[in-house]
Amino acid sequence: MHTDFLVIGSGVAGLTYAIKTAGHFPNKKVTIITKVTADETNTKYAQGGIAGVWDELKDSFDKHIDDTLIAGDGLCNRQAVEVVVKEGPERIQEIINYGAQFDKNEAGEYSLGKEGGHSENRILHHKDVTGQEIERALLAELSRHKNIELIKHWFVVDIITQHHMGYLVTKVTPDITCYGVYVLNLKTNKIEKLLAPITVIATGGNGQAYRTTTNPKIASGDGVAMVYRAKGRIENMEFIQFHPTALYEPGESPSFLITEAVRGDGGILRNKDGEAFMERYDVRKDLAPRDIVARAIDNEMKRAGTENVFLDCRHMGREKFIHHFPNIYQKCLSIGIDVMEHMIPVAPAAHYSCGGIKTDIVGRTSIQNLYACGECASTGLHGANRLASNSLLEAMVFGHRAFVDSVNKHQELESDYATWEKKLAAIPDWNAKGTNDPKEMILITQSQKELQQIMSDYVGIVRNDVRLERASRRLDLLHEETEALYENTKVSPQLCELRNLITIGYLIVKGAEFRKESRGLHYNTDHPEKSELLQNIIL
Ligand code: FAD
Ligand code: SIN
Repeated sequence: MHTDFLVIGSGVAGLTYAIKTAGHFPNKKVTIITKVTADETNTKYAQGGIAGVWDELKDSFDKHIDDTLIAGDGLCNRQAVEVVVKEGPERIQEIINYGAQFDKNEAGEYSLGKEGGHSENRILHHKDVTGQEIERALLAELSRHKNIELIKHWFVVDIITQHHMGYLVTKVTPDITCYGVYVLNLKTNKIEKLLAPITVIATGGNGQAYRTTTNPKIASGDGVAMVYRAKGRIENMEFIQFHPTALYEPGESPSFLITEAVRGDGGILRNKDGEAFMERYDVRKDLAPRDIVARAIDNEMKRAGTENVFLDCRHMGREKFIHHFPNIYQKCLSIGIDVMEHMIPVAPAAHYSCGGIKTDIVGRTSIQNLYACGECASTGLHGANRLASNSLLEAMVFGHRAFVDSVNKHQELESDYATWEKKLAAIPDWNAKGTNDPKEMILITQSQKELQQIMSDYVGIVRNDVRLERASRRLDLLHEETEALYENTKVSPQLCELRNLITIGYLIVKGAEFRKESRGLHYNTDHPEKSELLQNIIL
């Protein structure tokens, strides 16, 4: 099978790229693959909103740039920050043109929310279900392009490079090239070979590596793991962002998020004694950047031996609360919590991966003809800690930038089509010889639980060298067992996700071991200071 542009992922990043590319090349085919349904993405679950400089009287690009750089704790790439902040409003206007509705105030102006680390109100939102609205608008726009095919329930297993044609490929091979993907068709259970001159990875995050996460099941870091296997560059994986306020509801997965916008509107964190403890940790109190708030909560829970703290919204006014946060209000009611009468039990949960596939300023990865955008990418925007509501923005800006660059790339590749065709002919079909149906699916589920336990216990919000070493040893064993299973067993999404998550765990641990300092989201009690050396860890 061939396509002109292959996009893996139907969240905000993949859809942005696909819509633009299909509009520019009406006679070319754009294929989007998603492993489940079209809208089952991290994007759909986004709550708080999308940051952008909208109120030019009070806000400015400089302020948004500074806030992003401060949150990133010295590791942001300034060029990436400037690009995202300055091009952001244009991209937001585009999705408004596609039909996305953001809340307005009585004067008919956009109602701009505030979240941790922002010095101004600059977050556009649709109630507390912004992501659902953005995904809806993008899918509606997508359906206007007849040259886009969106294939559901196809699971990409690996990207194809010269390695699959029998060449030795290592980290130092200079011209590793992507020719498309091997993908498991979940309806036929067959692995197809889908070839494309240009491939875009937009596979989202990896929260499923942890026991408690706000991320849906799809977030298993597949894109990052595939690129790592293909010997591409991966960066800063140790910077896992824990959202401070996931609803504490033992046994529920994923954890339901209580958006930071609730604190932006006046919600106060309290410990079990009712103390508003954030005053002791940071002058910005409940609206300090996420790394600081999550660590403070972690400390309070450890001190008191509790599994949660509380978010107090009782003073916020019922009508106002329901108007801005109808979904949260209903969810809490459904488990017996009237937020006007009771405090909401909350605890931190793995939420966002700041690192990922290393890209340049137009989304190019270290592998030829392969782009990455969205949460799976490390563009340099977030550094050591992402500023709230900057990720939908980043996905749109870099989805657009990858599109612009791939227009030129496409022309370059088309002029050499004969060589290209010859190369494609040499790519073998998937070889499933010697593999059998899994004897015990339960082994896969158990290993995934073990992985999540290891990552949560040893590589969480507060780390130290002994814990990292333990994690590393336990992951080695899981890796060994899972690779043996992979060699002999027919490929299934469960097995592939487990394998990918183990790779993600390995990359997080390795990044954390190499970073002998505490910075942003990475806090190691054996190295509590910041190093003078500003360093990105590339694996
Ligand atoms: P996703 O939207 O996650 O899409 C990934 C796609 O890749 C899916 O279609 C999936 O099926 C596909 N895929 C993955 N692996 C494979 C495979 N092997 N084969 C085929 N397909 C595959 N950010 C903000 O800026 N503001 C917010 O308010 C906000 N709130 C959030 C609330 C929650 C609860 C969560 C979880 C995240 C939130 N974020 C927020 C973060 C933000 O939503 C995500 O970072 C962003 O949506 C990621 O978009 P994406 O396009 O990169 O990936
Ligand atoms: C939230 O709404 O608190 C999440 C925002 C984000 O992850 O950027």
